[in-house]
Amino acid sequence: MKPGEFTFTMIKPTAVRLGKLVPILHEIDRAGFSVIAMKMTRLSRAQAERFYAVHKDRSFFDELVFFMSSGPVLAAVLQKENAVQEFRKLIGNTNPDAAEEGTIRKKFAISVQENAIHGSDSDENALIEANFFFSQFEIFPHEEGL
Ligand code: RTP
Ligand code: MG
Repeated sequence: MKPGEFTFTMIKPTAVRLGKLVPILHEIDRAGFSVIAMKMTRLSRAQAERFYAVHKDRSFFDELVFFMSSGPVLAAVLQKENAVQEFRKLIGNTNPDAAEEGTIRKKFAISVQENAIHGSDSDENALIEANFFFSQFEIFPHEEGL
C-alpha cells in the first residue's frame, strides 16, 4: 500500500444500529473508493481508549470511549488517489450541523459525538489505524494495471 492511496474508516455504533451501514457503504462506493479490507467487530473499552489515545486529555474522552465500545462497528481500508483528503471531504465536518450538504455526516450523523463515521486525518495515521484493525494478510490493495 502506497501512502496517499489509502485511508482507514470506521462506521460508528449508532449508524450500524440504525441500519445505515449499507447506505453509507453505497455513498463510499459512489465516491470512487475501493474497499481493500473490511470487518465488522466490536471494540473493547481498552481498544477504544488506544484507538482514540490522542484525545485522552479532552473533556469528551470518557464519553467517546463508552460510545465507541457500545456496539459493533464496521472497519475498512479504502483505496483511492489522495484518499485521506478526499475521504475527509466526503464525510464532512465533525459536527453535522457544520457539515456541508451531501456529506455522509450531514446525511447520517445524529450529533457531534454520534457522527456516523470516522476517517483518518493523515497518511501516517491511516497506516497506524489500518494496522490496528488488520494484519498484512487481510488487506488486498489493487495493483496498478489490474
Ligand atoms: P474522527 O476522528 O472520528 O474521524 O472525527 P474527527 O477527526 O472529525 O474529529 P476528532 O476531533 O478526531 O474527534 C474524534 C471523535 O470524537 C467525538 N467528539 N465528540 N462531544 C464533543 O465535543 C466531541 N468532539 C469530538 C466525535 O465522535 C469525533 O468524531
Ligand atoms: Mg479525528
